[in-house]
Amino acid sequence: MIPQEIIRQKRNGGTLSAADIYVFIDALARGELSEGQIGAFAMAVWFRGMTPEETVALTLAMAHSGDTLSWPGLDRPIADKHSTGGVGDNVSLMLAPIAAACGLAVPMISGRGLGHTGGTLDKLESIPGYTITPDAGLFRKVVEQAGCAIIGQTGSLAPADGRLYAVRDVTATVDSVPLITASILSKKLAAGLETLVLDVKIGNGAFMTSKDEAETLARSLVEVANGAGVRTSALITDMNEPLADAAGNVVELRNCLDFLAGRKADTRLETVVMAFAAEMLVQSKLAASLEEGEIAARQALASGRAAEAFGKMVHGLGGPADLLEQPDRYLQKAPVQKAVYAPVDGWLAACDARSTGIAVIDLGGGRRRPQDSIDHRVGFSDLLSLGTKVTAGDPIATVHAADEDAAERAAASLLDSYRISDDAPDLPPVIVTRL
Ligand code: URA
Repeated sequence: MIPQEIIRQKRNGGTLSAADIYVFIDALARGELSEGQIGAFAMAVWFRGMTPEETVALTLAMAHSGDTLSWPGLDRPIADKHSTGGVGDNVSLMLAPIAAACGLAVPMISGRGLGHTGGTLDKLESIPGYTITPDAGLFRKVVEQAGCAIIGQTGSLAPADGRLYAVRDVTATVDSVPLITASILSKKLAAGLETLVLDVKIGNGAFMTSKDEAETLARSLVEVANGAGVRTSALITDMNEPLADAAGNVVELRNCLDFLAGRKADTRLETVVMAFAAEMLVQSKLAASLEEGEIAARQALASGRAAEAFGKMVHGLGGPADLLEQPDRYLQKAPVQKAVYAPVDGWLAACDARSTGIAVIDLGGGRRRPQDSIDHRVGFSDLLSLGTKVTAGDPIATVHAADEDAAERAAASLLDSYRISDDAPDLPPVIVTRL
């Protein structure tokens, strides 16, 4: 069938055969479809959904749109984690080296910012020289030497996702269960993993805002991945405020360096990182229980082995050897940095995390069109977490902007997205449930 007939059939609510899905994805990966056709297909799927069989076919077609890796001779279990996307969600940056320091091999294929959410690759590209598209030989070498390598889809790894992802990002077609399932799992299946843990975000800063939607997505991901032979589980985690105390690219990377140096303990972010590390270690049978896994992860962090793995990964992929020791030498700073002050006394009670993500895009830290370049320097840091008691005039965040006007707009929009109340809020746990 020709592409427009496949789009038409889905637009009209029909079920696509696996063969038609393969034809469409093959043409997409070869660059034979226009952005308009890809956007129309994504929108048809967004409105009409897909059956489980169509979702499996889409995932497999995308996973096989390029090379699939295997890891002969690697004497470590091959494991990974992926998030459905959030704001201030930089978990992968520290989790990969922690897991590596605990004995796993983590060949992580990540994505760029999507919709209002940040992207691991955009954060890593803040590091001068870091290549997110190494050839297969270098990818393998860094995984062998550092234990982890975080890279993007290359022309040869799940290339169909690279193209579809970029179009979804700017066509309001991200929050679709089959499209998210195929996007995440195509990259993961192409990487040749043995086990996978998924972080399915729920809340106003996630693509899935209700418990039902998040559980549906988690089930779709877990079922398709297990069906494809990758032992997979999912944790549903809260995304009703930025997870780190930063949102943006350089600022989240700096937050990760602080975390690896032990300066971000006792935070919601730490709870999530440790939960995922423990889950990965149990799944790969390197720990007998979640408690044991968490102890191993904490030791890897406290001993500096996780920081060392991160440093090796960065250097192996072309970044500076001393990034951890001298971040200021390499990471750019925004020309304007301004505190945002609490307008009244009270408790930080609620936040619209999606608006915070949009404010980062408005600052230039995300894309409006697939071809846009981004300003890695901008965003928010020093964000206070919900449940903090503030007095009028206390700083609740710092804006990093390219100029004064952008800083003013971002500060106003950040203040708009927070609610300060007279009473302490009742906040949900950060780990909501496990599937
Ligand atoms: N992460 C991905 O890789 N793809 C999505 O669609 C959402 C989050």
